[in-house]
Formats: sequence, C-alpha cells, structure tokens
Amino acid sequence: MPLASSLEQSRVYYYLISSAALVMALMLSASWQWLLAGAPRQPARMRLFMHDVLTGPGATAVAVVNGTGPKVLGGEPPLRFGTVVVIDDVLTEEASPESTPLGRAQGFYVFASMHGPALLFCMNVVLTAGPYSGSTFTVVGHDNITAPLRELSVVGGTGRFRMATGYVLWRTASWEVRDNAVLDLDVFLYVHAHA
Ligand SMILES: *[C@@H]1O[C@H](CO)[C@@H](O)[C@H](O)[C@H]1NC(C)=O
Ligand SMILES: *[C@@H]1O[C@H](CO)[C@@H](O)[C@H](O)[C@H]1NC(C)=O
Repeated sequence: MPLASSLEQSRVYYYLISSAALVMALMLSASWQWLLAGAPRQPARMRLFMHDVLTGPGATAVAVVNGTGPKVLGGEPPLRFGTVVVIDDVLTEEASPESTPLGRAQGFYVFASMHGPALLFCMNVVLTAGPYSGSTFTVVGHDNITAPLRELSVVGGTGRFRMATGYVLWRTASWEVRDNAVLDLDVFLYVHAHA
C-alpha cells in the first residue's frame, strides 16, 4: 500500500474512533445528569397567611432601627430608607388570625430601596402543625410592598425541606398603612431527590 493512502486511512480511523468516543461521553454525561436530576418533580404547595402585627399588646413585629435615609413612605414620622423590623409573625391556614395556626415567620425586613417602599425580606418559616410540622424553610427576597404580586425565593430548608429550593408568590391580603398587615403566601417548594 502506498504510504499516502495508508496515512489517509489511519486519519479516517482516528476521526471515527474519536467521534465515537465523543458520542459515548455525551451519552454517559446525559444519563448521569438524568440520574442526578431524578424524575421530573412536582413542587410541594403550601398556602400560608402571615400576620405582621406592629401595634398593640399582641405585636409580633418590632422596628428596631429607624432609618436615616430618604423618605420611602409618608405619614408622621415618615418611614425612611434603612428602617429594620424584626418579626416573629404568626402563620395561619386562612386570612383570619383566629384560623388554625401553622407556624411562625421569624426574621427581619429592611427598607432597602432609596426610591420607594421595597424591602429586603429574610425569614425562616418554622412549621409547627400540618403535614410538614417540624420542618423549616428559608425565604429571602425583594418585596415591593406597593406591587400587587411579588416573588420571593426559597433558598433552603431543614427536615422535609432539606436542600429545598423554590419560590413564594406574595400578596398583601390586607394592610393598614404603617400598621398591621396580613400577607398571603403561595409557596412552591422543590425538594432535593437525595436529601
Ligand atoms: C423610631 O421613631 C419612633 C417615632 O419617633 C419612636 O417612637 C421609636 O421609639 C423609634 N425607634 C427606635 C428604634 O429608635
Ligand atoms: C413598586 O411597584 C410599583 C407598582 O407596581 C412600581 O410603580 C414601583 O416602581 C415599584 N418600586 C420599586 C422600588 O420597585
């Protein structure tokens, strides 16, 4: 066989073998990802009503810092950028505070926008009743309190929600300006298959 043609032939073999290897590697990595991801999952759903009570003997939210930045909400005295409120709010099954308690929302929010009443929200949802009693999950996010619908992130959890991710569709059910609010939380939780 002439040298040139045998070189040509070995080049063809080389390409065949290397592309077969590539295809196999791709197939393996795809099935590995499939194993890791598990079957498509349905989120766990939960509806919670959160009672943010700032006034009266039953207050569960306390402003611990009066902001010194720009005014973000009117009234006397005005609410300012930088205000921090610490909460241990009751969570119930329905909008009424007398409905079945499901747990507490423990954390804080900061007026974190210079241009309006938008909060950085950071809280643990500690469930004490219902099918997920004893488990917790952590919510962090941007909450523009004047927007009709907000979306906050679930960034982790414990117990049944270990390594969970997800989101909360967040609405104001009722609100007396600068006073007490009831928040309507529609929670979507994706639990890690191997947690
Ligand atoms: C914030 O200001 C209000 C109204 O002036 C006052 O009642 C409250 O004690 C202040 N809170 C803090 C933490 O300084
Ligand atoms: C908050 O939402 C309102 C209404 O959707 C919008 O007009 C405003 O620009 C938003 N503000 C911030 C600080 O995100």
